[in-house]
Amino acid sequence: MKKSLVSINDFSKDEIRHILELAADFEAEPAQRFLLGKVIACLFFEPSTRTRLSFESAINRLGGRIIGFSDTNSTSTAKGETFHDTISTISNYSDLIVMRHPLEGAARYASEISRLPVVNAGDGANQHPSQTLLDLYSILKTQGSLDGINIMMVGDLKYGRTVHSLLQALSHFKTTFTFVSPKELRIPDEYKQYLFDRGIPYTETEAIEEHIDHADIIYMTRVQRERFIDPMEYERVKNAYILRNAMLAGTKENTRILHPLPRVNEIDTDVDSNPKAYYFQQTENGVYVRMAIISYLLNVKQ
Ligand code: CP
Repeated sequence: MKKSLVSINDFSKDEIRHILELAADFEAEPAQRFLLGKVIACLFFEPSTRTRLSFESAINRLGGRIIGFSDTNSTSTAKGETFHDTISTISNYSDLIVMRHPLEGAARYASEISRLPVVNAGDGANQHPSQTLLDLYSILKTQGSLDGINIMMVGDLKYGRTVHSLLQALSHFKTTFTFVSPKELRIPDEYKQYLFDRGIPYTETEAIEEHIDHADIIYMTRVQRERFIDPMEYERVKNAYILRNAMLAGTKENTRILHPLPRVNEIDTDVDSNPKAYYFQQTENGVYVRMAIISYLLNVKQ
């Protein structure tokens, strides 16, 4: 039976742990060509650097072939073809679909149209589950465990899809959450309800300094300009938080700074040389984790 990764909740806690084990195996031995003879469609209806290229790197390392697009102007979408017909057609050309789309729910719809597994590479402000799995892998590598982590999520918690799916995944692991955002970009109520229903503690604040010294993980996020309806509102909040090296002076030895990237201004470049900055290593982890996700969904490595 086909299995997709549209929401992080499509994977159980055991499956999440299994993906992280597979990723570690691929990191230790990247030359495992389980995708020889397979074709993966990478359909990017919205811009991407890391997600698209790390999926492509993962597929290449596994010996698979890639078809797809990163600009819908070069496809028949520009001639008016429906999303349904595009997905139905590409399903006849490939073994698995990786898809990013600006609309929430687009990946779920694609998984209903297609007989192939679908990996959601980000749908609007909703979910980004492959990013979540690489974030978990990064937390595991830097903290030695996923259990009992104190995470401070900073920035655009309203539109940030990486925050939404990471919060749900970490709810399996006795996490303590601190949400730092301007009031306009607070974490939506449905996610607070999600935590409340599971008895998971969280704190909301606008002051980054209040909690930074207690955090194991500082998860910085970009204010998502492309999701704002009102450009003036974006201008008001775009530089709400800028993490600077001096702010890390009292943080714990094990503290690491993650960011899904791209960054705009929210982490000053003076943080980059601090050993607690982990966001570029995080991007490398994405290749191993995406090798694991594809191999698992295609049932070529268990
Ligand atoms: N983290 C992330 O999704 O980056 P891209 O938008 O560059 O793919």
